Amino acid sequence: PRLAVIVVAAGSGTRLQGGAPKAFVPLDRDSILRHSLRGVLAAPRAQVVVVVPDGFQDAARADVQAVSGDPGDGDGGDAVRVVVGGRTRQESVAAGLSALDADVDLVLVHDAARALTPVSVFERVIDALEGGAPAVIPAVPVVDTIKRVDENGVILAAVDRSELAAAQTPQGFRRDVLEAAVASADADHTDDAALVAAAGHDVVTVAGHADSFKITTAPDLDRARALVASRRP
Ligand code: C5P
Repeated sequence: PRLAVIVVAAGSGTRLQGGAPKAFVPLDRDSILRHSLRGVLAAPRAQVVVVVPDGFQDAARADVQAVSGDPGDGDGGDAVRVVVGGRTRQESVAAGLSALDADVDLVLVHDAARALTPVSVFERVIDALEGGAPAVIPAVPVVDTIKRVDENGVILAAVDRSELAAAQTPQGFRRDVLEAAVASADADHTDDAALVAAAGHDVVTVAGHADSFKITTAPDLDRARALVASRRP
C-alpha cells in the first residue's frame, strides 16, 4: 500500500505568541516545521503534503528543500507538496487530503507542532496500519489527576485516570475511512481520531512518546528548545 503524510502547519499560534505562525517559530536555527519535517522524512518513503497559512507557501518550500532537497513546487511528481490550510485544523486536514496522489491508500496526519516526535512513533503507527487497523493513534498515559468541572470551576466528578489516554499524532488511517469521516463531519473535532470514531470506526492506540508533546504555550517552546539543544552532538 502507498502511504502519505499530511503535516498540518496552518495554525496561527496565538497561544504561543512567537511572532509568527507557530510552525515558523524557530527552535534553534531551524523552525518548528523544519524540525517536524525531519522526523516525517525519516519515516519510510511516503508522499508528504504540508498545509500552511496563506502567504507562507514559500517559507514552507524553503523548509522542505532544506530538509529533503526537494523544492516542493508540485512540479514533476515531487514527493513533497505545499498547500494552503483553512480556518480550523479540520479544514486544514481536508485541504491536505485533496492534494493526495490517486494511488495513496494509507494516510498519516501529523501536527507540525509536535516537532520532536521520534521516528519510532511513526513506525509503530505505520506498522499497525499495515497490519490492517483502519485507524490508529499514538497515546500516552495521563499523569495528572483529572476532574470534570462545571462552568464555575467547581468539581462535578473525579475521572478515573486509568481509563484515560492523551492522544498524540501522527494519527494513521485508511484513506477511504478518513475521507468519508471528513466528508460527513457535522462538528469540528480537535483531532482526526475523534472524527473517525464519530463515524463509527474503532480506533486503536499504540505507544506514543513524551518527546511528542505539542508545542502550544511559551513554556512548551522553552522545553522544545532545551530538548533540541540537548540532542545536538
Ligand atoms: O491549535 P493546535 O495547537 O491544536 O493545532 C494543532 C496542529 O494543527 C498545529 O500543527 C497547527 O499548525 C495545525 N492547524 C492547522 N490549521 C488550523 C489550526 C491548526 O493546520 N486552522
